[in-house]
Amino acid sequence: MATHREVMAFVATCLLFLIATVSCKRKVTTQLNYMCDVPECKTGVNGSFPNLVYVRAQEESDVLHYAISTIHIPTILVIHTRGDANSKLNVDWEKLIVEDEFTNDSISVSDPKTVVYSYAVVFTKLHEYNDTADAADLNSYPAWNSTERVVRDFDNFEWMEASTVKGEENAFVFNSTMLVNSTNDMFGHDAPRNYTPSLSFTFRVFDEQSRESSLPHLLYNENVTQFDFTLDNFMPSFSMSRFAVELAIISQSQKEDMSIEETKSIDDEYTPGVFRITNLKARPKDQANGAFVQWKPVCYQDSPRSRSVATSVQKYALGDIKNVTSLLKSSLAYAYFSDVLFSDSMNSATTNVSFGLSKDGSYTKTNYTSWTASVGHGNPPIDKVSLLVIGVISAGLGIPVIIIVFGGIFVCIRKQRKKSYRHLQDVSSSYPQNGVST
Ligand SMILES: *[C@@H]1O[C@H](CO)[C@@H](O)[C@H](O)[C@H]1NC(C)=O
Ligand SMILES: *[C@@H]1O[C@H](CO)[C@@H](O)[C@H](O)[C@H]1NC(C)=O
Ligand SMILES: *[C@@H]1O[C@H](CO)[C@@H](O)[C@H](O)[C@H]1NC(C)=O
Repeated sequence: MATHREVMAFVATCLLFLIATVSCKRKVTTQLNYMCDVPECKTGVNGSFPNLVYVRAQEESDVLHYAISTIHIPTILVIHTRGDANSKLNVDWEKLIVEDEFTNDSISVSDPKTVVYSYAVVFTKLHEYNDTADAADLNSYPAWNSTERVVRDFDNFEWMEASTVKGEENAFVFNSTMLVNSTNDMFGHDAPRNYTPSLSFTFRVFDEQSRESSLPHLLYNENVTQFDFTLDNFMPSFSMSRFAVELAIISQSQKEDMSIEETKSIDDEYTPGVFRITNLKARPKDQANGAFVQWKPVCYQDSPRSRSVATSVQKYALGDIKNVTSLLKSSLAYAYFSDVLFSDSMNSATTNVSFGLSKDGSYTKTNYTSWTASVGHGNPPIDKVSLLVIGVISAGLGIPVIIIVFGGIFVCIRKQRKKSYRHLQDVSSSYPQNGVST
């Protein structure tokens, strides 16, 4: 009877899995410079393009509004509304582009009462340090030793006009050429202007659950956007340069400690050799309703990505947003939340993510680094053993079991037959053989 129940459970699981995959599809529409009515969207401001991509992902009256932008500083702003199928984002371009500092309400949704949850991820700084001891640890050098460090605020970059990624739906690339000027330049003078893109963010928004086709094959679902951060021939300042990205996460929720942890992952099938996954959770006590950033501790020193050009990514403790207040004030998050961003109804943190591993030759080995992470809300996707592996394992375990079971049945039947045959014989022999003798 147990096998019967197991079969039923297996069928039920398969059905649930199918239902889950089918029902969670959102209708996704994307627009670059959505409803822009100022000329700066076409011409740029001082050589930098504003680039605001509005992604609307809808399922009935449940709508996710993504505003992904390089206006002043690269930011992903996500507003989740429910109850209004026509809900849309309002952008006051005049306020956004023309004014230097954001005043409030440059960004809003049509009916603020329908907002369920909102959050933002802001890329605040790009750190570079000379890894003289080849420790691949951002914290291993004193911060005051500024001759071995360069810090670039992300609001100092110039951005080319955003473009879509060829052959992909709902994917955008924001390319930056070079800093306008780096006040922290190690030689004390402006870095040369270089018009070939050297730093980029590529964003992908999804309408269903699946797994990214390129390494590290991160899982995604309909509540997730993924980004690749790539330095490609970005000029290093040191012979042993390593880079780190500092980002801030802002979540609309009561104050509680956010968490960052690296957990074991069984997923060797999709990301060979990487058995860990890092989750930064904005609401660890109520994560089903919270934002997260998720990545595998791996980045790539060359393109195309492969295991042989993989190196490590390091996580660091969470910090306070106090050090990046002015940068946040220039972000799209401030354009939406305004001063509420710094109030008690918001929860926020910053962290660093550094690239490289001791003995990997540092960034200058290839002058290339590319890293992928997911930003979303709800419980971060968890790697499960795939159906293929389950199939292989079941087949591997199943065949002997089948042999044993069928073998057992066969033996039983034979014994039974023999028994009944013998029984028949016994019965027949116990009868008086009168029929023969007569
Ligand atoms: C960086 O560190 C390397 C190795 O210790 C050293 O040779 C170099 O002079 C340092 N500074 C720069 C600017 O590369
Ligand atoms: C990130 O690293 C830099 C350089 O070590 C440091 O100044 C900054 O405080 C770090 N940020 C966080 C959030 O820890
Ligand atoms: C990386 O860039 C530096 C500075 O431009 C250069 O000296 C070095 O040769 C480059 N490395 C590679 C592998 O191209």
